[in-house]
Amino acid sequence: MGWKGILGFEYGIVQAPLGPDISGPELVAAVANSGAIGILRAPDWECPDYLRELIRKTKSLTDKPFGVGIVLAFPHKENLKCVLEEKVAVLQLYWGEVTKDVVFDAHQAGVKVVPQIGNFEAAKIAADAGVDAIIVQGHEAGGHVIGQEALIALVPRVVDLVASRGIPVIAAGGIVDERGYVAALALGAQGVCLGTRFLATEESYAHPTYKSKLVEMSNTEYTNLYGRARWPDAPHRVLKTPFHMEWKNLPSHENEANQPIIGRTIIHGMEKEIRRFAGTVPNKTTTGDLESMVMYAGEGVGLIKEILPAAQVVTRLVEGAQTLIQQQFAS
Ligand SMILES: Cc1cc2nc3c(=O)[nH]c(=O)nc-3n(C[C@H](O)[C@H](O)[C@H](O)COP(=O)(O)O)c2cc1C
Repeated sequence: MGWKGILGFEYGIVQAPLGPDISGPELVAAVANSGAIGILRAPDWECPDYLRELIRKTKSLTDKPFGVGIVLAFPHKENLKCVLEEKVAVLQLYWGEVTKDVVFDAHQAGVKVVPQIGNFEAAKIAADAGVDAIIVQGHEAGGHVIGQEALIALVPRVVDLVASRGIPVIAAGGIVDERGYVAALALGAQGVCLGTRFLATEESYAHPTYKSKLVEMSNTEYTNLYGRARWPDAPHRVLKTPFHMEWKNLPSHENEANQPIIGRTIIHGMEKEIRRFAGTVPNKTTTGDLESMVMYAGEGVGLIKEILPAAQVVTRLVEGAQTLIQQQFAS
């Protein structure tokens, strides 16, 4: 049965790392305790001591394995060292090339390496580097989007590329319920990675206003409006909020750097100002004009009807997929 676990976990369901701090210890532990793969998000700056605390806090909430995600576009050497020293189960990597050296060091520490890629060539490079699984991100995905193609075409190509090497493929983008899960299995994936669905859970660190928008709104847009100065050339998928619709055609030379301050927040213990068009989603500590802040979401957001405990998201996916396979596809 395709819905069984991967990488030594009970299930092949992955909770995506949600930047900058939305997938904190509470969410990751809840996911891990339910048998799926929960992934913390390391800060975008070097702060190994803080990261160690985050990992240890998660370990205090679960005795199950979990992972840490690192965005390679930002300073990360010290953070990476900390992840390997703490011997978490999975190192997830994004937005940068996965090298053989990183994979070697991780394997020496007993840590599995799972990059998220967005095209066939990047999958080839990752497979050649010796990774343990590959997350294939489709253009449907929420947050920053490296995927340029729809999952339905890209997943089977990557599966054909890596299946003979025994590397499981995990599909990410627009998957919210058991129908998306089973569809991904039909494409040859062995797992699914969900971001937006886990964002809309009780344990996620997203601001309640952001969570209610995920339930109320159904439409998203692929854009490069937010965070252009801090993270250039990093397109993203966002909710089509009234603020977004008003400003979506902002001239390309404008960015957040010279804009008014619209709010304040604390990210991984650091106090920050939020300027208009910043790429910072509202977390639980954020104050100010929340309606004018970016709200990342994947194309599946219209399927989210309620905020659920993370464990229920996992149970519904697993039980729903089993039922769907048995009732509709088993003859
Ligand atoms: C709020 C938010 C933050 C994200 N942050 C990260 C991140 O820090 N690192 C990463 O690899 N992916 C990140 N992603 C993308 C996910 O890994 C994944 O590709 C995506 O959520 C899948 O699409 P879905 O949101 O439709 O489930 C983020 C997604 C969202 C919605």
